[in-house]
Amino acid sequence: MRNHTRRCTICVFLMLILCGTGPAPPAAAGEPAAVPLPPPQTNGGKPLMQALALRATSRAFAPDPIPAQTLSNLLWAAWGINRPGNGKRTAPSARNRQEIELLVVRADGTFLYDAAANRLLPVAAGDHRALTGVQSFAKDAPLTLLLVADASRIPGGGKDPEALQMAWADAGYISQNIYLFCASEELATGARASIDRPALARALGLKESRIILLAQGVGRPAR
Ligand SMILES: Cc1cc2nc3c(=O)[nH]c(=O)nc-3n(C[C@H](O)[C@H](O)[C@H](O)COP(=O)(O)O)c2cc1C
Repeated sequence: MRNHTRRCTICVFLMLILCGTGPAPPAAAGEPAAVPLPPPQTNGGKPLMQALALRATSRAFAPDPIPAQTLSNLLWAAWGINRPGNGKRTAPSARNRQEIELLVVRADGTFLYDAAANRLLPVAAGDHRALTGVQSFAKDAPLTLLLVADASRIPGGGKDPEALQMAWADAGYISQNIYLFCASEELATGARASIDRPALARALGLKESRIILLAQGVGRPAR
């Protein structure tokens, strides 16, 4: 019986690793480690109608960093897993392709939101906020979320315009989730499509399969 239990535990562990949702392997020497996030607080906030009444685009941000708890809540609201049983999320996605990746661009580096493990995975070192928009205020937000499509999850590898439109639609839902969370938390935010995409992709070392769709700054409102 005990052997059977041990075999089951090992199987579950191997399945988690194969599915990519298990614990991260330890970082090699010199490699940046994953950053765990506090569990998201999934209740509270303003009533939906109040958040809708407050939703607006802002282009002026205070420099104050966003606390880890607020970031965890923001990422969950934007594109977190709200049904762990089937891995579905707070935003819909066409055919449940879940092709959008959420990157967090901060002064201390750029990170990928790993929703399943609720952590940030390092993507690039350095401060690349200024490259997240062609407008000068892009650099001012303490963090910018990048909505990036993984073309390997899109039929036609991102070359089929109709399939790409679905990725843009999926990004739109996530962007609105960000807007509504920020309205609820009295944070400033604004979507941006005006981005020098090749320059940003180069700076972040993104694979060719990654298509930058939108950037969205988040921070406290400028005082
Ligand atoms: C897809 C999309 C792209 C946008 N791109 C930019 C942008 O590059 N720069 C900018 O300042 N605002 C951008 N905006 C914000 C719009 O200008 C803003 O939503 C519009 O003026 C209406 O204002 P509101 O969001 O406060 O209602 C974008 C909005 C959307 C939905």
